[in-house]
Amino acid sequence: MTKSTPPLVSGALPVLGHAAEFQRDRPGLVRRGFVEHGNVFALKLANQNVAVVIGPENQKKFFMETDGRLNIQEPYQFLKAMFGEVLFLAPHDEYLRQRPFVQELFKREKMLHYVDVMQEVVQAWLEGLGDSGEIELTSEIVTLVQEVAGNCFLGPEVHQTIGREFWDLYADLSQALDPLLPPNLPLPKFIKRDKAKARMSEILRPIIAERRQHPDLYDDFLQDIIMKDDKAGEKIDEELVRNLLLGLMFAGHETTAGQAAWTIILLLQNPDYLQLVLDEIEQVAPAGVHIDPKRMVQLDHIAWAVREVERLRPSTELLMRVVKEDIEFGDYLIPAGWLMQVAQEIGHKLPAYFEQPELFDPLRFAPDRAEDKQHRFGLFGFGGGMHKCTGMNFANNEMIIITALLFREFELELVTKDTQIERGLGASRPTETIIRYRRRKTAFAAPEVGALDGQAV
Ligand code: HEM
Repeated sequence: MTKSTPPLVSGALPVLGHAAEFQRDRPGLVRRGFVEHGNVFALKLANQNVAVVIGPENQKKFFMETDGRLNIQEPYQFLKAMFGEVLFLAPHDEYLRQRPFVQELFKREKMLHYVDVMQEVVQAWLEGLGDSGEIELTSEIVTLVQEVAGNCFLGPEVHQTIGREFWDLYADLSQALDPLLPPNLPLPKFIKRDKAKARMSEILRPIIAERRQHPDLYDDFLQDIIMKDDKAGEKIDEELVRNLLLGLMFAGHETTAGQAAWTIILLLQNPDYLQLVLDEIEQVAPAGVHIDPKRMVQLDHIAWAVREVERLRPSTELLMRVVKEDIEFGDYLIPAGWLMQVAQEIGHKLPAYFEQPELFDPLRFAPDRAEDKQHRFGLFGFGGGMHKCTGMNFANNEMIIITALLFREFELELVTKDTQIERGLGASRPTETIIRYRRRKTAFAAPEVGALDGQAV
């Protein structure tokens, strides 16, 4: 018997379908679909049919069928308008050519260096805050994460040369994120996007030219990209270098900033768990102590809090594919030409996999409960399968470092009590949140020599 297409969620308007509600309150729309129809249902965005699939087995199929019957490149055309044909925005053969050299930028010995840079940058930020005061955490963390990305990926000198202008231009790019409208319409936000991209390229061009001319003078992430040979032994061309840099820094900064800020906010909202984190910092990484790989892997409570934020407050909720060949999901057939989505806002809160799923409860990831290990595709804040986030370890390490150093240096208090999720069409993040801070009078004591015998990361 031929299977039918998934049932349509209620509330579709003539012509627009669910498009307006999708822009306004996507989680509410998806939740309604789940309540009405379960794990597989349909939305209509104007004349585009969209299937939403939920549950670890469906999530697994979504990720594992990508590059087969599901295509990742087409739905992200709005990103291609910003970064050109880089990584999954490129045709599959070109993606396979680029993938190894991007992965190499994040291998272990490089990561050890980035973690050191992260600590220097975060420490400098903390020193600049003085002894007490108030900050708006969300924007502060965005700037901090930009500093980290700039220092890790471009190196301190280049990062200083490009200055704030460069990062402000990213804001123009972000404003133009729009998966619904054709990215080349002559709208002001798209015109601004193209101008910003041109200016950013102009800033990077002489830097890349200088480094190509004097390769012996440099040894860092930027130089690694610039001098990279592909399998055929050819240097990657200058435009691709620029696009890769811009794309990686984009992929890495707003996403990480949102989840880093949420980690701090949720810890402050949960003082019992925060106490476990403070005890851990005192034990493993007290004031003045450099967090080396051995210490890093012992910051379990912070790592679980970071993972709980990935589950409850993921930055990238909207993961999409285009169906290239008819494909079955459960009892339904999703025809070629449909869009598909997975939904972290529901998939991460299924009670069959996560006990009391609405609660902030990082201990669910402790070895005795290990809820994330029940199914490989139960938690997918960093995606899954071949396109799983290349920067996942970088982002997790960065969030752990920011949390550890901030809490060991300062006593913090939430002034804003009702932070909400700000969802745009790009990464989600907390709404403006004021925190009050006071430098700790008594630094955490140093641990006994030999108390730390962990494994290196
Ligand atoms: C909390 C921070 C981050 C989150 C939540 C996140 C999330 C994701 C997700 C969900 C995907 C898969 C997209 C899909 O399947 O449609 C992805 C892919 C990717 N991310 Fe991240 N990301 C983060 C940080 C970073 C960082 C720091 C970098 C690098 C600097 C990065 C680089 C990438 C790249 C290159 C891909 C494409 C991988 C491929 O197609 O092979 N991300 N990310």
